[in-house]
Amino acid sequence: MDAHFDPDSPPEGSRADWTVDQGWAAYADGEHRVWMTLYERQRTLLAGRACDAFLRGLDALDLHRGGIPDFERINPELRRLTGWTVVAVPGLVPDAVFFEHLANRRFPAGRFIRGADQLDYLREPDVFHDVFGHVPMLTDPVFADYMQAYGEGGLRALGLNRLHNLARLYWYTVEFGLLETAQGLRLYGAGIVSSRAETVFALEDASPNRLGFDLERVMRTPYRIDDFQQTYFVVPSLDALLEATLRDFGPIYGRLATASDIAIETVLPGDRVFTRGSQAYAHEQLGAAAAIQ
Ligand code: PHE
Ligand code: FE
Repeated sequence: MDAHFDPDSPPEGSRADWTVDQGWAAYADGEHRVWMTLYERQRTLLAGRACDAFLRGLDALDLHRGGIPDFERINPELRRLTGWTVVAVPGLVPDAVFFEHLANRRFPAGRFIRGADQLDYLREPDVFHDVFGHVPMLTDPVFADYMQAYGEGGLRALGLNRLHNLARLYWYTVEFGLLETAQGLRLYGAGIVSSRAETVFALEDASPNRLGFDLERVMRTPYRIDDFQQTYFVVPSLDALLEATLRDFGPIYGRLATASDIAIETVLPGDRVFTRGSQAYAHEQLGAAAAIQ
């Protein structure tokens, strides 16, 4: 195993829990400008697309003024609202470290920001994805409880060797989740709301499936890390999401040990179908990739 990913060996300069100072004073003007450009773009696009909880959280924390947010400035308000805080980490952290933070209502966020030439795509989560994407939802009391429960569940799944199944739940909710509302589908997943292109794709493109959330089904569905999702899952409410996950996953993990995966673009007879996707986008990408080889 990569020694770097031993939870007990944080990189030099990090504390035992892998946190570091954000070092807010050290950001360059150009870095603040990247934040403000991304912020303005998303703010406009997300009106009428992101769910109310997200938009309310964005306003409550006033994530705009002064460019990249100073964690010390947003934490008092976040703590007051739901007991969460944001802590800075140097990059990806080991799973156990990540879950331990979540279980204690601390959200680990990268402190670096993408370059002005990478506004649209970045593989590693930066401060824009982590703070703009994730933190607004943490101001919602129900979602706040869900994230803490996820941290506790993560530690448990690690011990039971079912982390790959639980990770799919995170992916299809926290990162790429859609919410059903009286006004239509809305976004709450951080991976979507922090991406200009996926904000539109996830809601409006004819290519992806949009299916009703079903816990066990989601945990059997692999996901894409390198492109737009082929399937999105829709929760009827954040309360319903929390409720579905508060039960003991032990029996589910037992079943998952022998259950097969569900191919990424499959629509099952039992699925609640909001959109049966054409998958045109995904097939075009695969075709292009095959043509290069
Ligand atoms: N209820 C889950 C378990 O028994 C824990 C969990 C809660 C996981 C919320 C994810 C989200 O392991
Ligand atoms: Fe994320």
